[in-house]
Amino acid sequence: MAPYAAFLLLGLLAPAAVLASWDIDEDVRLDTIGLLTKYGYPAEVHEVTTDDGYILSLHRVPYSPVSPLQEGKQKPVVFLQHGLLCSSADWVVMGPGAGFVYILADAGYDVWMGNARGNTYSRRHIKYKPNGLFNSKFWNFDWHEVGLYDLPASIDYVLEQTGEEKLFYAGHSMGTTAFWVMTTQRPEYNDKIRAMFALAPIAYMGYMTSPFFQLLSLANKPLEFLLNIMGVNEFLPNNELMTLGGKLLCQDKALTQFMCENVLFLIAGYDSEELNSTMLPVILGHTPAGASTNELLHYAQEIVSFKFRQWDYTATNLFHYGSLTPPKYKLSKVTAPVALFYSGNDWLAAIKDVDKLYSEISNPIGKFKNSHSKFNHLDYLWAIRAKELVYDQVLSLMTRY
Ligand SMILES: *[C@@H]1O[C@H](CO)[C@@H](O)[C@H](O)[C@H]1NC(C)=O
Repeated sequence: MAPYAAFLLLGLLAPAAVLASWDIDEDVRLDTIGLLTKYGYPAEVHEVTTDDGYILSLHRVPYSPVSPLQEGKQKPVVFLQHGLLCSSADWVVMGPGAGFVYILADAGYDVWMGNARGNTYSRRHIKYKPNGLFNSKFWNFDWHEVGLYDLPASIDYVLEQTGEEKLFYAGHSMGTTAFWVMTTQRPEYNDKIRAMFALAPIAYMGYMTSPFFQLLSLANKPLEFLLNIMGVNEFLPNNELMTLGGKLLCQDKALTQFMCENVLFLIAGYDSEELNSTMLPVILGHTPAGASTNELLHYAQEIVSFKFRQWDYTATNLFHYGSLTPPKYKLSKVTAPVALFYSGNDWLAAIKDVDKLYSEISNPIGKFKNSHSKFNHLDYLWAIRAKELVYDQVLSLMTRY
């Protein structure tokens, strides 16, 4: 009897497995819009050009099958901004019921997703090209410009399209850094924010523990020099150096090795209990999504200085800023209501740094330490229990603003 049962079981499971893996394979290849469409959600692409000429794609889920549009009634707007080396796909890859964009749309929001200059969906400029010998003009930016140009252009566009005066903003990692830049450098944008939800907030970085960033900050200035003369302006992570870095930092357990060769996990942690390994190929299919080397180097400067301030030109600061040190981002100018979501096992957003940020912003509305002690930097996007551990809390706060 037993062999028959086994045979029967195999017969049932094999097609299911083939179907499942085919499905996963398809999700690896589909882009943000393709994924949303596949799962039956309305998806729109919008284009916005920044004041300094970058052409960005915005992705939108205006409503959800379980929360359809009502005639003449605009849903409240949420704007999601991804982190370093990521894209709008981060909010989507885990699928309906799990990805943040689905959960927000199901809860009745009109969800817009930004894509920072340089990522998969925003690699265009009115004059400059991201590839080729003369790409340095295109890549001459860091998250300062994302905050100064990309976010304001995106937010203005979304408000104009929806006819709303304010929106909710939720950012992850660099998506929070750029928000602090925007609201300190262009404080009038505070008035366009109903409330801001910072997932793994990054302003100060002095106490971060990422081994990758520790190495980077040790070699910061020589590395900047080297990359400059080599003409490396885009941070291209799929090279020998990364593979070596992965081997050095992660030893060789099969799964971690696989993840460590992806620079995002190398930077932000690969030790998650909350990562669904079935979904790993889909995640890896969408990240890393592109960044400038200066985005990493600017963070490295913060690790060394313990300060949250503009790009350090060292010898030529006087020329650029009229002072010997770069100007600080004055966090007291962040007057929009802000809630911080942080955790004890985050390699990048250390508790001490988060506390300092929280004490300096002008309108803090709550600081939420994750109840799961092992929750890490990327779990905010892809954790099996992200909904119950983070998103539900954000949703309940939203109803108050
Ligand atoms: C992991 O992902 C697969 C494929 O989406 C899904 O079927 C499974 O339920 C997930 N596992 C957990 C623990 O969420």
